[in-house]
Amino acid sequence: MKVAAETIAPLTSKDTLDVGRIRADFPILNRKVNGKPLVYLDNAATTQKPSVVVESLRRYYLEENSNIHRGVHYLSQKATEGYEGTRKKMRTFINAPDAHEIIFVRGTTEGINLVAHSFVRERIKPGEEILITGMEHHSNIVPWQIVCEMTGAHLRVVPINDKGEIIMEEYEKRLTPKVKFVSIVHISNSLGTVNPVKQMIEMAHAHDIPVLIDGAQTVSHKKVDVQDLDCDFFVFSGHKMFGPTGIGILFGKSEYLEQMPPYQGGGDMIKSVTFEKTIYNDLPYKFEAGTPNIAGVIALGSAVDYINGIGLDSIYAYEQDLLAYATAAVLGVDGLRIIGTAKNKSAVISFMLEDVHPHDIGTIIDAEGVAIRTGHHCTQPVMQRFGIPATARASFAVYNTKDEVDALIRGIDKARKVFQ
Ligand code: ALA
Repeated sequence: MKVAAETIAPLTSKDTLDVGRIRADFPILNRKVNGKPLVYLDNAATTQKPSVVVESLRRYYLEENSNIHRGVHYLSQKATEGYEGTRKKMRTFINAPDAHEIIFVRGTTEGINLVAHSFVRERIKPGEEILITGMEHHSNIVPWQIVCEMTGAHLRVVPINDKGEIIMEEYEKRLTPKVKFVSIVHISNSLGTVNPVKQMIEMAHAHDIPVLIDGAQTVSHKKVDVQDLDCDFFVFSGHKMFGPTGIGILFGKSEYLEQMPPYQGGGDMIKSVTFEKTIYNDLPYKFEAGTPNIAGVIALGSAVDYINGIGLDSIYAYEQDLLAYATAAVLGVDGLRIIGTAKNKSAVISFMLEDVHPHDIGTIIDAEGVAIRTGHHCTQPVMQRFGIPATARASFAVYNTKDEVDALIRGIDKARKVFQ
């Protein structure tokens, strides 16, 4: 397989972003579904993978497969180089101060659970509070509920307004001395809201409260600089940024990671073991017990190269343009209502079509080859906030086009005619 995506020159604006060239890097986009060209608009669930990422997996398994950190032999060294190489790329990608602050985990969910148990559960006392917002994904709700059940702490929630924005006055009010941790989503998967996390972190830090940012919906759409944000923890998943499933990143400030006990015990996370006493390994290995997802890590490195090859500023500008086009187009459909109308939005459109159930819309649209997600998007409290059971959601990536938006509109129109 010949792949040259890493050679794509960085682009400077949406006008110069060559979507045709980008689409050619994603073979799946050429396939048909239900006899129609695939229009893939479920990128908030998972993005498609460019050939370079698949080639990276293939090369590792067919040419370089070996365990890491364990052998002096050639293949083991090669695998270790690839694995640690991705850690360095990840450090640069999010501008972490040090590569040892990059921990490989299974994904956003595992990253949050790690912090919940190794950091917050260790420190929080009965009656103290963990603060989240009303637009969190279940993965940024349930781990905190578990910690609260185990410790007697309480979970507090900042409400959101009718546009799907955090009510900042309410956030400020809830930052009381009882709050010991804040965990907030950067970009909402179900509403598309981009939260003012830098300001929110600053406000929490003014009360000495550490903050975790769930960046799952951020990293393939918008540049992240963890030093500029000054977040204490930042988590994200590889599969939402053109990488493989089952691999993700937890960034944590060294000062905290150093103090935290391991989340899991096993091989590689130790310096020495006797039955009497085990000495844990240094960062980042203390948190990477057992043989990790080596292939996934190496391929994630290719995904980062791929994103850097296009340039996140170009991606952001292109997607904002697509969002404006798609928003105007869907609002032209009779009876359609967008759920999530924040001023600062990412390229996600959740909608309702009068009393047509979102699953029915999804099914009709699927027959046209258009893939959207319908349901509660693992954010049931958001649905409760808006008094709806579910939404239909189109979520975009850099390879989507205005023609695909038009195909979505034709599909929605069809659903409207069938059900009304
Ligand atoms: N959180 C993912 C989504 O929004 C799975 O679809």
